[in-house]
Amino acid sequence: MLQHKLLEGKRGIIFGALDESSIATHIARQCVAEGARITLTNAPVAMRFGSIQKLGEELNAEVIGADATVEEDLKNLIEKSLAALGGPFDFVLHSIGMSLNMRKAKTYTDLNHEWMHKTLDISSMSFHRMMQVLYNMDAMAEGGSILALSYIAAQRVFPDYSEMADAKALLESFARSFGYHFGVKKKVRVNTISQSPTVTTAGSGVKGFHDFFSYAQTMSPLGNASAEDCAKYCVTLFSDYTKMVTMQNLYHDGGFSSMGVNPAIMTKE
Ligand code: NAI
Repeated sequence: MLQHKLLEGKRGIIFGALDESSIATHIARQCVAEGARITLTNAPVAMRFGSIQKLGEELNAEVIGADATVEEDLKNLIEKSLAALGGPFDFVLHSIGMSLNMRKAKTYTDLNHEWMHKTLDISSMSFHRMMQVLYNMDAMAEGGSILALSYIAAQRVFPDYSEMADAKALLESFARSFGYHFGVKKKVRVNTISQSPTVTTAGSGVKGFHDFFSYAQTMSPLGNASAEDCAKYCVTLFSDYTKMVTMQNLYHDGGFSSMGVNPAIMTKE
């Protein structure tokens, strides 16, 4: 694993490490390898069947349960993390997504709107809620960095991504809107990373994921970006080398988002 100690002395919270495949698991490992001290968090129910406790032991990180849809849980998480790390946070990662309609195979033209409400609450509003609690508790350090993970279906149509496309569009909008307020208050940066399809629990839940993964792999001149590559990119955005990057949606996709046609796909049998 590359180690340049880019995060030496920095403190952070990582949301969303469920198991070995989670993108957040790779990001947590890379942050610690780069010298950061972190706390890990996930929904209490996910902590029961995932492997976050093991990751916490490996990284010497306290694991604190919090349902990202519950403000009280987030306040408790931030209080405990401030105590565990001994000061305000230099970085926070939001790596949370879940769609009830997708899980239950409801199509986009026949969504259950109660479930859609829950999808937006978990996958998007949790980002605003988390930032609002950090802001009001004054828990971010001056010049800190907040990131959430997004997907290109926020800009272009990927029919099987269903309501998650709308959830990601809202997530990216929150990065811009809250980025203004956090920037003015404490020079804190807020960005989203639009990541390639990645084989994880949430990713594989999307209908036709494996076909789409291989389509994107062929379409992108560099191929799909892995979770390990995503972790390295996140480290640069948490580091002091990107102090003036804020309110952006940053593509981390091997070039996919700039492609129109790739002859490799046209000639595929
Ligand atoms: P994952 O399934 O490992 O991570 C999703 C996480 O959300 C899990 O840890 C889950 O426990 C957590 N979560 C769900 N409900 C929660 C709640 N109420 N409170 C707190 N946490 C909750 O899957 P993955 O792929 O690592 O997903 C992480 C992020 O990356 C998501 O935002 C996802 O949309 C995004 N992403 C994933 C891509 C992929 O192809 N896997 C591509 C682009 C973005």
